[in-house]
Order: sequence, then C-alpha cells, then structure tokens
Amino acid sequence: MSFDRSVKIAPSILSADFANFGQEIQAIEAEGADWVHVDVMDGHFVPNLTFGPAAVKAFRPHVKTVMDVHLMIAPVDPYIDAYADAGADVLTAHVEAGPHIHRTLQAIRAAGMKAGVALNPGTPAEAVAHLLDLTDLICVMTVNPGFGGQKFIDMTGKIATLRQMIGDRPVHIEIDGGVDPSTAPLVTKVGADVLVAGSAVFRGGSVDNPGVYGENIRAIRAAAEGTWT
Ligand code: DX5
Ligand code: ZN
Repeated sequence: MSFDRSVKIAPSILSADFANFGQEIQAIEAEGADWVHVDVMDGHFVPNLTFGPAAVKAFRPHVKTVMDVHLMIAPVDPYIDAYADAGADVLTAHVEAGPHIHRTLQAIRAAGMKAGVALNPGTPAEAVAHLLDLTDLICVMTVNPGFGGQKFIDMTGKIATLRQMIGDRPVHIEIDGGVDPSTAPLVTKVGADVLVAGSAVFRGGSVDNPGVYGENIRAIRAAAEGTWT
C-alpha cells in the first residue's frame, strides 16, 4: 500500500447483500471502488452485530484492492492476531474502546497491518495528539457508529484540526457515515482523502445490476473532487 492523498472511495459492505458478500465485493471493485470497508460490530461497543474474523477471512480472496477493517468492538487487543490472520490491510480501533489505545496501535503494526484510530462524533481531535506517529489512518465518524443509512453529522472543524495536526506525516483522514455526493465535498475540502460510503454506493444496485454501483461511486468521487455538476 503506497501513500497518497488522492480521493479514495471505500464502499462499506454493511450495505451489501449479506447472503452474497463475495460477488458484492467483486462488483464494487469492478465498478471503481478503491478500498473495501468492512464494519465489524460486537453488539457491545455498538448496538449492532455483524461478523467476526472467520467471515472477514472468507472475504479476503475476493478483495483485490485494500481490505479496510473497522473494528467497533471492545476489547480490541485479544482479536488483533485473528484479523491479521484474516488478511486485513488496515485495522482500525476506536479511541473510545479502551484505556490503552497507544498499546493497541503498536500491536496492530507489530502484527503487520496499517494501524487506524477512529473517533466518535463526541470525541475531540486532541484525543489522538499523542498517537500521530503510531497511526496510518484517522477515521472521523460522521455518525454515531452502529448502523448504515444515518444522517451526516458535520465534523468539518474537527477534520481541519486533524489535517493541521498531521502536518506532513503519511496519515490518511477517513470519513465514515452519511457520505454522499452532497456531503463528500465538505470533507475533502478540509483534508479528508478516504471516503467510506455504504448506502450511497449500494442504493439502487445489485450484483445483477452493478452499473448502478459504478454510477454511485463516480457521483461521490466527482463531487469530492469538485467536478460534480
Ligand atoms: C457505521 C459504519 C459505517 C456505515 C456507513 O457504524 O461504520 O461504515 O456502514 O454507512 P452509510 O454510508 O450508509 O452512512
Ligand atoms: Zn465503518
């Protein structure tokens, strides 16, 4: 994985057909996805439950781009090796998931993955001030995590602060929640480069009609790059 700040669209398979993940992943990649975003929820840190390491490992052979695994679980540390074994390229843990996020990020890198740290809407940018050299990606939640299809919460002030804090470090800013063609330009303008989108990518399409995924991805990208008309 090389580093750059170009806009990357990361469809969240939380909005895919849960009976057909392999084909759904292939379809979004064929239609222009840059990364594949995988939302792991435990029914404890967040009020919803999705899938665990065995399922993520089964997704791996279908992902030709970057498998971006977002852990909404607590605790995190006992599962890091399982997600490394599952083939995650990026593994993101929430700063709110436990008292030892510093150790968690070190352990993720030690297991051979890129380390991400996620911030809930109520958590200030300063929470990652001492983690900037230990992280490869900061995920700014623009909804309270747990469900797809929620309304975007404006976090542009936080994103701009983070962009300034990062300086020239090779750290991505990822936005997760309520991203669509109307909200994407607000966040790229202030420094975000990875845009997670679930409902705005999968809406209206299917593996039998994947062209819609492509239209949706291109609409978000064009808006984010400021060329949407
Ligand atoms: C929310 C998840 C998101 C979610 C985004 O807890 O982390 O990745 O799938 O879904 P949309 O794009 O529908 O808001
Ligand atoms: Zn997510």
